[in-house]
Amino acid sequence: MAENLGNWKRSHYCGELTGSSIGKDVILMGWVQRRRDHGGLIFIDLRDREGVTQIVFNPEVDKSAHEKAHHIRAEFVLAVKGAVSKRPAGTENPALKTGEIEILVKELKILNESETPPFLIEDETDVAESVRLQYRYLDLRRQSLQKNLILRHKVCKITRDYLCDRHFLEIETPILTKSTPEGARDYLVPSRLNPGHFFALPQSPQLFKQILMVSGFDRYFQIVRCFRDEDLRSDRQPEFTQIDAEMSFVDREDVMGLMEGLIAEIFKNAAGVELKLPFPRMSYAEAVGRYGLDNPDTRFGLELKDITGIVQDSGFKVFADAAKKGGIVKALNAKACAEFSRKELDELTAVANSYGAKGLAWVKITSEGLPSNVSIGGWQSPIAKFLTDDEKNGIAKTLDANTGDLLLFGADIPKTANTALGRVRLDLAKRLNLIPKNTFNLVWVTDFPLLEFDEAEKRFVAVHHPFTAPLDEDIEKMDTAPLEVRAKAYDLVLNGTEIGGGSIRIHRQDIQAMIFKKLGIQEDDARQKFGFLLNALSFGAPPHGGIAFGLDRLVAILCGAESIRDVIAFPKTQKATCLMTDAPSPVDKKQLDELFLRVKTQQKEV
Ligand code: AMO
Ligand code: AMP
Repeated sequence: MAENLGNWKRSHYCGELTGSSIGKDVILMGWVQRRRDHGGLIFIDLRDREGVTQIVFNPEVDKSAHEKAHHIRAEFVLAVKGAVSKRPAGTENPALKTGEIEILVKELKILNESETPPFLIEDETDVAESVRLQYRYLDLRRQSLQKNLILRHKVCKITRDYLCDRHFLEIETPILTKSTPEGARDYLVPSRLNPGHFFALPQSPQLFKQILMVSGFDRYFQIVRCFRDEDLRSDRQPEFTQIDAEMSFVDREDVMGLMEGLIAEIFKNAAGVELKLPFPRMSYAEAVGRYGLDNPDTRFGLELKDITGIVQDSGFKVFADAAKKGGIVKALNAKACAEFSRKELDELTAVANSYGAKGLAWVKITSEGLPSNVSIGGWQSPIAKFLTDDEKNGIAKTLDANTGDLLLFGADIPKTANTALGRVRLDLAKRLNLIPKNTFNLVWVTDFPLLEFDEAEKRFVAVHHPFTAPLDEDIEKMDTAPLEVRAKAYDLVLNGTEIGGGSIRIHRQDIQAMIFKKLGIQEDDARQKFGFLLNALSFGAPPHGGIAFGLDRLVAILCGAESIRDVIAFPKTQKATCLMTDAPSPVDKKQLDELFLRVKTQQKEV
């Protein structure tokens, strides 16, 4: 029963018409959002990507169109010819741009029919995400997802315009390439023509963009897909998109200054939000000190305090032992939370434990008189009996503790104490509703350590990546105190999410070789893995640096989406599968043979 388009041409989108078009004849095309049969009249909300228009079938206007409209169901595809008319008084819908008008249909074509969809195409939906992902083409018809993807498009367009205006060239880099050390596991692609050899999908175009600088392109950018086989979370996908850039003859401030301009432009033009420039800069040491994490959410206080000095000789062994072993004791004051129940304290402890803490000591301040007249009775806590009045006074003063407050403590090696308490801080902020809505706090985190020690592998690893330059003034510490060497690296953090990161690179071959050595990458190995980079650096590499932004994360925050899956047209599940196409899937033995591969599935060989 479907009809052909014929020579009909759409005149307007469904979100376009307003009172100023009353009287005009128009042709609209779109999907049936809803059909309401009001005795004589049939109303349909017709939807396309721009919005919804009410169309009306009146047997007195066109009898056959009205007759046909009886057969219309949700998600049928229609074309209608009709006149824009003013809705009768009292039936306007001020919430809709098109709410003042309706189309009186003179002619109808049913362009296609639809099965009954497995869920209603509506913004508010409680249908399981797995069903939505299986029928992603229907899910994507929902206005909220259409809005997200349209905003994503805008962000890309603004990015291209901004960077092109500043002499950046968009240059593509290979997808079939060699493993790069971004820190995650690689996705591998077997080579049919080179049995036993594999390409890796790029975790980022890092080495190629550096080589483009060696080649003299001066400024490069690309909106590029990256692939990382890692454990997935709401802000991590196995394939995701970076706004990737690299520049020659620049220092850190050049890159940060130019790129914060881009972010401000994106916020202004895509979301109508004016950001104040420059964004604040905060050293890694300060971020970890005050917030416990290198991606601080600065939208609320609840800062951590270091009380190691106060409790290093404490009768509470957990604190004293941590301090003696070179660890730290950090604390935070959950204001007015002394009423927390056992259950709530257990939940907070579970958060600390899940980040490696051995416990989460707590104190409830329950009586008046603080901070000068501390009474033991006022400190309700399993650890209170171990603390001297001096220690209590010191803690109370440092944490600005008052009656009704809940104090929380973490004692451990610095990384664990900071991370655990930093995560408890985030959890508390959610519980206490401390996070202001519609606030965008951006902060550059700088001066990261260049190296960290990997206990499992018993060697130094690069905090950023092995091509990041050390701070000039720290190079001399490379042998004596390698963990104190800071990097020319910077991350951009938005509301506690790392949305971008980059660095000034090593452009001298001798320094790059020295860093590989420090990382325990043997010369042969370095040659085999990165020989092309070392060679390139030896042919006149300019000083250079760059950055990559996580496009999905940035857009998700701009849209207020819970997960980056909501800003990616065809995302993968937490288990890295696509429920719509059923990828990944087994392949024929013939295909495997061609690739010289055999699959081990647990015990069974295929
Ligand atoms: P990095 O590894 O920090 O740096 O990545 C840059 C940004 O990409 C985003 N991101 C992700 N987004 C979604 N899913 C993922 N799995 C994922 N992994 C990372 C983050 C991150 O800040 N080559 C360097 C950049 C450079 O030095 O220029 C790089 O890739 O927002
Ligand atoms: P315990 O001495 O093991 O009974 O612990 C007393 C309190 O200290 C409990 O509330 C524990 O959660 C807490 N605690 C234990 N280890 C640590 C630690 N490393 N850091 C902070 N609190 C701890």
